[in-house]
Amino acid sequence: MDGVRKTFDEWAQNGRAELMEVEHGKNVSKFLDTISFDEHFSFLDVGCGNGWVVRRMAKEPNCKKAIGIDKSKKMIIQAKKKTDSKNEEFVHTDIESWKYRGKFDFVFSMEALYYSDSIDEALKKIFKLLKPGGQFFCGTDFYTDNKATARWKDIMKIQMHLHSKKEWKEFFKNAGFQVKTKHIKDLKSRKKWKREYGTLFIIGTKN
Ligand SMILES: C[S@@+](CC[C@H](N)C(=O)[O-])C[C@H]1O[C@@H](n2cnc3c(N)ncnc32)[C@H](O)[C@@H]1O
Repeated sequence: MDGVRKTFDEWAQNGRAELMEVEHGKNVSKFLDTISFDEHFSFLDVGCGNGWVVRRMAKEPNCKKAIGIDKSKKMIIQAKKKTDSKNEEFVHTDIESWKYRGKFDFVFSMEALYYSDSIDEALKKIFKLLKPGGQFFCGTDFYTDNKATARWKDIMKIQMHLHSKKEWKEFFKNAGFQVKTKHIKDLKSRKKWKREYGTLFIIGTKN
């Protein structure tokens, strides 16, 4: 089994999935609050963990369908247990090999894409899964400009691709996206990097 899947299978069972929900929750909510979901939409979360973002989005009045995918089977088992609305769905798959015929208005991913074998390939797939005019919101705390996070790679001991904001923007452009970025800072956090650099959101639009 690959190291990423093995690690997150463990995290699904030792409470760290819920810890991520808390750790990422504040900045993700702040970011999602800046987006208007005022028309009917479909939503995909890539690397959804225990599914907390899917549950949040499924409750938006205009959300027709919210799907979470994760390559960790145990994360998907947790997510399915926590399901609390009819328009939610969870699928055990990696983004690269997922066979899905439909297209989404929004794709989201938090702290997941840099674990994929190839960010290029994952982005190409996400681009294909979006409708014209659709958007991909990609959140990462792990990026070169955020120096405090570089050592995470040594702690995790699994494949993690570390890139700068500039490099992330290039990846998105190469996949065909129009790209913008946004830093969401948590000025009240005890962690200095959360106040200084915060979560980087790369926003790709498929025109
Ligand atoms: C750091 S966790 C973040 C989980 C969730 N997004 C959150 O913020 O709580 C990364 C998740 O992405 C999943 N993942 C990593 N690479 C993936 C891929 N190529 N396709 C699907 N899921 C992937 C992992 O199994 C893991 O559950």
